[in-house]
Amino acid sequence: MKLLLKFNLIFLLIFAGGLAAIGQVSWTLLERNARDEIAQSAGLLMDAALATRSYTQGQIAPLLQTQLKYTFLPQTIAAYSATEVFNDVRKKHPEYAYKEAVLNPTNPRDRAVEWEADIVNQFRNNKDTAEIIGDRDTPTGRSFYIARPLRISNPACLQCHSTVEAAPPTLIERYGPANGFGWQLNETIGAQIISVPTKVPLDRAQKAFNLFMTSTGTVFVAIGIMLNVMLWLLVIRPVGKLSTFADRVSLGELEIPEYKRTSNDEIGVLARSIGRMRTSMVQAMKMLDS
Ligand code: HEC
Repeated sequence: MKLLLKFNLIFLLIFAGGLAAIGQVSWTLLERNARDEIAQSAGLLMDAALATRSYTQGQIAPLLQTQLKYTFLPQTIAAYSATEVFNDVRKKHPEYAYKEAVLNPTNPRDRAVEWEADIVNQFRNNKDTAEIIGDRDTPTGRSFYIARPLRISNPACLQCHSTVEAAPPTLIERYGPANGFGWQLNETIGAQIISVPTKVPLDRAQKAFNLFMTSTGTVFVAIGIMLNVMLWLLVIRPVGKLSTFADRVSLGELEIPEYKRTSNDEIGVLARSIGRMRTSMVQAMKMLDS
């Protein structure tokens, strides 16, 4: 096998191994960053929903207490305002979602669908779980979710959610007696679930990865070309000439012009010693002849 081929095979091996290692490390980092970013925006949205809830509960509900005797105003309900505010956000960002998914809700739109009910049941079965996070496929692409349990820790909640008799008549007028009752103190009745799309940050990570790998590949190829040129000029070509010279001398062509190489590197030294060897051989021949 030619020297240049051997050299290129080794270089290709290092190139492929290096590229694979760099690719592995950089994709792990980029993907982790993208996932952190997704989790961070989901956390922020969850906090915004909680803030809307506590604003309604703390500031709006007390103002409209008397009004509830005449008509029921869902605007006083924390769950309603958080859902409404988020629905407004969804007009611009339909792939984001917030839901107070409940197994037996007062408002049917809050009823937990299958995958949400699974999460609620996980919270119900394990009271210590404070948060569940995960990924799932949706019609608009893959989606990341954070879920937190909705627990009845305040007895005041039971006024409207325990029995039809206990609830304000205006509530029954509006929502009917069928849903949202029978909740118990300390029961996990549902889960707050924020869903955010994973596509945009992951696509961005993929683009950054592609660009990084292309430029790393280009640098490797440029280094490969440079090394080939250097190897050709400094080693392959002079050694080739030297070997032709030595070959011809060995076949008895003693008069051919000397291979001149002025450099002081190893090949220069070798060229001079082969030259000297030829001179000694010519002298030896002359001595034999005389
Ligand atoms: C004055 C009556 C009233 C009280 C008190 C009340 N709720 Fe509600 N709650 C409602 C009504 C009405 C809805 C439905 C609102 C809507 O239309 O979205 C509701 C909805 C909810 C929902 C969303 C799921 C569903 O049932 O539609 C949750 C969760 C919830 N309430 C939890 C609580 C908690 C926790 C408390 C105590 C801190 C509480 N509620 C106190 C009347 C009440």
